[in-house]
Amino acid sequence: MPGQESVKTPSPGAIVSVRGSVVDVRFDEHLPPIYSVLRAGDQGRIIIEVLAQLDARHVRGIALTPTQGLARGMAVQDTGGPLEVPVGNEILSRMFDVFGNVIDRGAPLSKFELRSVHQAPPPLARRSTKSEIFETGIKAIDVLMPLERGGKAGLFGGAGVGKTVLLTEMIHNMVGQHEGVSIFCGIGERCREGQELYHQMKEAGVLPNMVMVFGQMNEPPGARFRVGHAALTMAEYFRDDEHRDVLLLIDNIFRFIQAGMEVSGLMGQMPSRLGYQPTMGTELSRLEERIANTDTGAITSIQAVYVPADDFTDPAAVHTFSHLSASIVLSRKRASEGLFPAIDPLQSNSKMATPGIVGARHYGLAQDIRRTLAQYAQLKDIISMLGIEQLSPEDRNVVARARRLERFLTQPFFTTRQFTGLDGKLVSLEDALDGCERILRDEFKDYPESALYMIGAIKEAKGKAKPGSSTVESESKARSDPAAKSRHSASRTKPQPTPEHAGDAHES
Ligand SMILES: Nc1ncnc2c1ncn2[C@@H]1O[C@H](COP(=O)(O)OP(=O)(O)OP(=O)(O)O)[C@@H](O)[C@H]1O
Ligand SMILES: [Mg+2]
Repeated sequence: MPGQESVKTPSPGAIVSVRGSVVDVRFDEHLPPIYSVLRAGDQGRIIIEVLAQLDARHVRGIALTPTQGLARGMAVQDTGGPLEVPVGNEILSRMFDVFGNVIDRGAPLSKFELRSVHQAPPPLARRSTKSEIFETGIKAIDVLMPLERGGKAGLFGGAGVGKTVLLTEMIHNMVGQHEGVSIFCGIGERCREGQELYHQMKEAGVLPNMVMVFGQMNEPPGARFRVGHAALTMAEYFRDDEHRDVLLLIDNIFRFIQAGMEVSGLMGQMPSRLGYQPTMGTELSRLEERIANTDTGAITSIQAVYVPADDFTDPAAVHTFSHLSASIVLSRKRASEGLFPAIDPLQSNSKMATPGIVGARHYGLAQDIRRTLAQYAQLKDIISMLGIEQLSPEDRNVVARARRLERFLTQPFFTTRQFTGLDGKLVSLEDALDGCERILRDEFKDYPESALYMIGAIKEAKGKAKPGSSTVESESKARSDPAAKSRHSASRTKPQPTPEHAGDAHES
């Protein structure tokens, strides 16, 4: 295994103190530089990364493995180099940990090159600036916040609003058609999810162009802090040496910041705002700036960002926002209404959504959709106080249009088939735009809202319902007649937004 290869330039040291993951080591001859990797314990199993030189004889490091069994006076070997991971075509279809050991129970790598995980971002002159759209097949994203090829997109959301599901769906939709290499990096999330994803990808037959790297929540902070760098090093190899496009998926970049916070705390640094490390900005930009487009290839990255306590002003979320070219915000309210993917179109944005890039028609439509949804959001207060009947006929039309748009922008996912019972749908940008345009033109005014819910292209609405029952009427009927309501809901698959949700247009 690559991580366990022999020591290069032995220079013995001795452990002075061990406090959790923090290890102080004394070296009498040569003091190892920052980022050197030290090995201690049985067969050098305990791996320590030097983070500070305390004085002429002592260094302080963080263990990247559990420190069980480590004791004062034990010998420490300086490997003479930084943390390294294998790169090359051999790593395709394999699963690794932060040290570059294979963890998919397959045979160890036979031939490989090792590369340091600490690399500088590409210089300004080598960066490319072309803007191209990256289609995902997910209506809400392609229409309202198109992703950039070679850009960075963030999926923001609190706990359990569907970040992982959306990310997995994007992998599903893109990896098959993407000619390049995909790298999945799991940072500090559930181990189970890594295993599930591996098997899903294997079944889908896309593993040959994929690499997975995991430092999940069971691992020490040092390992979670470095696993992102390990994945990026592999991505950079494919971009710079093989000149291929790389799709880098990270779940979850917040855990990288959190691991940095733990490391910083262990090293005795004074915490900054809300307990975050004072170096959060530099740590994050050192990682994010390596994700870049160059003249040889592009790294497109999609990152899930956990938002602590749904607070979007949290420093971790704010810092991450500033690195992204598209931010997709998932809202708990929508998730609770069953409107999946729970994307909040009014809070999400993309710098690609300009007429010069997406074209005048797409831009105009996206603006119209946003305007309609924003008007509906404003009218919601009035509706909840006075009832929909008090609105002017124009406003009522806006509400009807907005609710149909909201439903049309939901989509059944391939990856959620087990719990929704619906087959996934991939929708082309053209179909998605077409549907939105026709809804804005009131072509679907006479269709019940549910006909537009969880469908793919707009033509499926025709098959799902017969025109004739107008919204407001059908909603009030459903409300006054509980039997009709339950019939209505029983005929649909979960998650079901309508009965209670339809009521929110009338709550008084
Ligand atoms: N598109 C969807 N369709 C149907 N259900 C969904 C969808 N997205 C999310 N869900 C539901 O929400 C649950 C949580 O989703 P997910 O695990 O993706 O959340 P998360 O944001 O990654 O949470 P965490 O922060 O805990 O990792 C899923 O198990 C599923 O029940
Ligand atoms: Mg998740």
